[in-house]
Amino acid sequence: MFMILPERPNDEAAIETLLDNAFGPERHNKASYAFRQNCPAVAGLSFVARSGDKLVGTIRFWPLTIGDGLTPALLLGPLGVAPERQNYGIGRGLIRRGHLMAEELGYKLVLLVGEEKYYSRFGYEPAHPYGLVMPGEEPARLMVHELEGGTLQRVSGELQAGDSLRPGVLKGDVIRQASY
Ligand SMILES: CC(C)(COP(=O)(O)OP(=O)(O)OC[C@H]1O[C@@H](n2cnc3c(N)ncnc32)[C@H](O)[C@@H]1OP(=O)(O)O)[C@@H](O)C(=O)NCCC(=O)NCCS
Repeated sequence: MFMILPERPNDEAAIETLLDNAFGPERHNKASYAFRQNCPAVAGLSFVARSGDKLVGTIRFWPLTIGDGLTPALLLGPLGVAPERQNYGIGRGLIRRGHLMAEELGYKLVLLVGEEKYYSRFGYEPAHPYGLVMPGEEPARLMVHELEGGTLQRVSGELQAGDSLRPGVLKGDVIRQASY
């Protein structure tokens, strides 16, 4: 049994330990980590899975600017599940909760760097055929998911960290409710 809850500030240490266990400490060298260094994760979009007192899963989303910067987009990651709790639906639960909230907040696209074999079940597909590029990352590992159908027909270009257009401008009430 597990519950998915908003991340709390004092979860940080347990999240770092979980990610080291799931991915190894060299995870910090990945190109996608550079996208998270100088900006905070999006408020209201960081969740953890708990089983009793134990933190067993984590997901965060980061603001992204693509091309002309007019499409509210997110970078998902890291998504991690404690090794002894993998394959029990925790990853699936965290992604679904994150997608639902991201959609409510007005985001249109989610990108990530990961395995197509895992993420395709959540509607992710390779991003490079749409002209989406993450500098420094292997093109085949960049995946994209539309939260609003048709978005991929009108956006392409290089990804940059940070948001040039906050969907909160459009949906400020939802942003405030989602803050914790
Ligand atoms: C990848 C990860 C987030 C998935 O979370 P989870 O809670 O273990 O997975 P779920 O229970 O939601 O889904 C289980 C399904 O995903 C598949 N799966 C799990 N990890 C996978 C991977 N790395 N690649 C492909 N498929 C994977 C399982 O085979 C299972 O498939 P089935 O439903 O057809 O039986 C988690 O295993 C993890 O943190 N792994 C360590 C990091 C890692 O390997 N990352 C690589 C993926 S980007």
